[in-house]
Amino acid sequence: MKIIITGSCGHIGSYVVENLSKIKKVKTAILIDNLKSNRFNSIFNLKNKPKIFFFQRDLTNKKSLNDFKNVDLIIHCASITTAAASFKNKNEMYYNNIECMKTVINYCKKNKSKLIHISSTSIYGKSSNLVSESDTHLIKPQSPYADIKLIEEKMLNKIKRKIKFVSFRFGTITGISKGMRFHTAVNKFCLDASLNRGITIYKTAYNQVRPYLSVRDAFKVFKFCIEKNFYNNQTYNALSGNYSVGQIIAKIKRYKKKVKIKYISSPIMNKINFIVSTKKLKNAGLNLNSEIITDIKNTINLFKNIKNEM
Ligand SMILES: NC(=O)c1ccc[n+]([C@@H]2O[C@H](COP(=O)([O-])OP(=O)(O)OC[C@H]3O[C@@H](n4cnc5c(N)ncnc54)[C@H](O)[C@@H]3O)[C@@H](O)[C@H]2O)c1
Repeated sequence: MKIIITGSCGHIGSYVVENLSKIKKVKTAILIDNLKSNRFNSIFNLKNKPKIFFFQRDLTNKKSLNDFKNVDLIIHCASITTAAASFKNKNEMYYNNIECMKTVINYCKKNKSKLIHISSTSIYGKSSNLVSESDTHLIKPQSPYADIKLIEEKMLNKIKRKIKFVSFRFGTITGISKGMRFHTAVNKFCLDASLNRGITIYKTAYNQVRPYLSVRDAFKVFKFCIEKNFYNNQTYNALSGNYSVGQIIAKIKRYKKKVKIKYISSPIMNKINFIVSTKKLKNAGLNLNSEIITDIKNTINLFKNIKNEM
C-alpha cells in the first residue's frame, strides 16, 4: 500500500518513518513537511525500505497534495503543536492547523483515501477521576491548541459518511525520535535535569495526574490500524499511562540523582487533574503498555556525556 505521512519531520512523524519497515503492508511512503521547524535531520539517512519520497509542501495550500495518486492512507501529523505558546500565536495556529486539516480531508474525500487523525487528550479540561471518550461533559479545551483539536474532531464528524477515518486522542508524547521536541512535560523535564538547570514545574501541579503516550506506543497505534484495517470513524483515547508530575520526577531521579525543582505559574490547566481511560481502545484489541521510564532513561542517555561541572 501507499501512504502519505504529513508532518513527517516532527516528533511523532519521524519516529513512524524510522520504523515503517516494521509494517510489511506499506510499500511506498510519501513524506510531507513544510520544514518550517527546520528539522532537516529527520530526513537524514532514511532507510530504503519501504520506498520513501520526501516533498517539501505546505498543507495550507489547498492543492498541495493534488499530484499524488492511489494513496491508500494518510497519517496526518502536520500541525503547529506548542500548547503553551498557542496563546501567543493563536491566529497563526488556528489558520495553519485548520487549513491543513481541510486539505487532508478534501484529499481523502476526493481520492477515497483513509485517514488517521491525531487529536489530543488536552481537549479534556475538567477534573475527573476517570474520563472516557463518551464523557462529552468533561470536554473543555483550556488552550487554543486544544480548542483546535476539538474543531478538527468536529470537522471529521461532519464528514463521517464521506470518508473512512479513525481519530486518536494522544496523551503527551514521551520518548526519542529524530524530530523530537522538548517543550512537553516529560521530555522537557529530562532536558532540564540533564543540563542541570532545574526542572520547571507549574505551581500546584506536583500531584496532578495527566495521560502520557510513549512514542513507541504511538507507532503501535498506526501499525494496528494498518494491519487490522481499523478505520471505523470513531475516536479513541491513546495513552501508555496516567502519571502525576511527582511520579515522573521520581522516575527521572532514578537516572539523574540531583535534580533541582523550580516552581512557576502557567496560564493553562493549572488546577485540573484528570485520569484518562484506555478501555475503549483495549476493547478494540489494542493494549498499550510501554513503560515511560524507558523513554525517560533513553532521553537522559542522549546527554550522558555532558559534564555539568568543571
Ligand atoms: N507531541 C505530543 O505530545 C502530542 C500529543 C497529542 C497529540 N499530538 C498531535 O500529534 C500530531 C503530531 O505531533 P508532533 O509532536 O509530531 O508535532 P511536531 O510539532 O513535532 O511536528 C509537526 C510537524 O508538522 C509540520 N507542519 C506544521 N505545519 C505544516 C504545514 N502547514 N504543512 C506541512 N507541514 C507542516 C512541522 O514542520 C513539523 O515537522 C499533531 O497533530 C499533534 O497535535 C502530539
